[in-house]
Amino acid sequence: MVTDREYALSLDENDPLRGFKSLFMITDPEMCYLDGNSLGRLPLATVSAVNEFMTGEWAAEVVTGWSHWVDEAQPTGDLLGRATLGAAPGQVLVCDTTSVNFYQLALAAINARPGRKTIITDAANFPTDRYILDGIAKQLGLNLVIIDNESPGSAENERITPEILEKYLNSDVALVTLEVIQYRSGARNDIKSLTDLVRNHGAFLLWDASHAVGAIEMNFDANGVDIAVGCTYKYGNSGPGSPAWLYVNKRVQAELQVPIQGWFSQGDQFGMGPVFERAQGIRGFQIASPSIIGLRCVKSAFSMIEEATISAIANKASAGTQMMIDLYDAWLVDLGFTLLTSRNAQERGGHISLGHPDAARICVALRQFARVIPDYRTPSSIRLAIAPLPTSYVEVWDGFQRMRDLVASRQYEKVAKPDSRVT
Ligand SMILES: Cc1ncc(COP(=O)(O)O)c(C=O)c1O
Repeated sequence: MVTDREYALSLDENDPLRGFKSLFMITDPEMCYLDGNSLGRLPLATVSAVNEFMTGEWAAEVVTGWSHWVDEAQPTGDLLGRATLGAAPGQVLVCDTTSVNFYQLALAAINARPGRKTIITDAANFPTDRYILDGIAKQLGLNLVIIDNESPGSAENERITPEILEKYLNSDVALVTLEVIQYRSGARNDIKSLTDLVRNHGAFLLWDASHAVGAIEMNFDANGVDIAVGCTYKYGNSGPGSPAWLYVNKRVQAELQVPIQGWFSQGDQFGMGPVFERAQGIRGFQIASPSIIGLRCVKSAFSMIEEATISAIANKASAGTQMMIDLYDAWLVDLGFTLLTSRNAQERGGHISLGHPDAARICVALRQFARVIPDYRTPSSIRLAIAPLPTSYVEVWDGFQRMRDLVASRQYEKVAKPDSRVT
């Protein structure tokens, strides 16, 4: 039975990924870390990779190192694309931040559809995407349409279906942007049907896969994706502020020109001439000097994902979120919680979201009193994740048991105010 701890222990015993947890640095074995969808844990291999880079390359080679560092965003992108995106080489760069990459590709797509004046996203999309689109719309005089998927009855768990999106599409639309996995509810949008639909209306669909990369299979090439962005610090385990990635399918690379024409996208970069002439291929989408330390963090973490295989990772995310839902049914429904994530594994990723009127206080109390780390998202969601490589099933089980006890005893009401503005 799922309510027996033995149940979780037996899932761990049969878990083909069970060996990976010991490859992460875990300083507090009593902590239940259920926030790998926000920041992944530190791989031990990253500690040595960064140290070796600093002493063996930066110190030893100084500026001469650039001869082999200069194009490193590309092979690291190929690795990330192969391990997690289903992308053939030459279509992914690891660079900059998700926000910058999102701005770059959104504008490139809009400029490739001259005369079209409408751009679309959804109300539940991650704030940075909505704010950047708002800025672009103001700057270019475009009409930003926000799909309502938050008010009751508008969508199931914020999920955008082709039926919902179709009503907004017409020949004035240049760009639609959506998350693969919604950051708050954990709803998974279907990549292929939505991409096909938007393309049939002559527009681009820019995917933000930040909450999906390293948790589910996405098969970008096979699903016909044109453009996408995402981060590496969540299920990618590459560290706080690690470089993000962008994907541009070869089919559309020549058609798209990013607005920031940095020197790394200049064809003859070291000719340093007066005229910008864009490099062919994915380098034409790079702005500037890559963070080599950051790239090494991405390389070591995504090498682990490649070794584990994204299909095994996705299976564990599916089974782990199912265990969470079963524990919710058994323990939490009667304590005022609601489930904000789909019961269908194909419609979710690595995290679930539970609603509770006291969600904010419960989250702080879990950290202060119970050594359980979830996170809170306004207005009333608690997000709980299984990051398949560093998290065991029993860690999730223990976290849920502690949450049940904390709420049943009302101990969480005694919590002190948080001392950080980060939730
Ligand atoms: C879906 C999504 N997009 C974009 C971002 C912002 O990323 P960055 O701060 O790296 O630009 C985040 C951050 O969590 C995110 O979850």
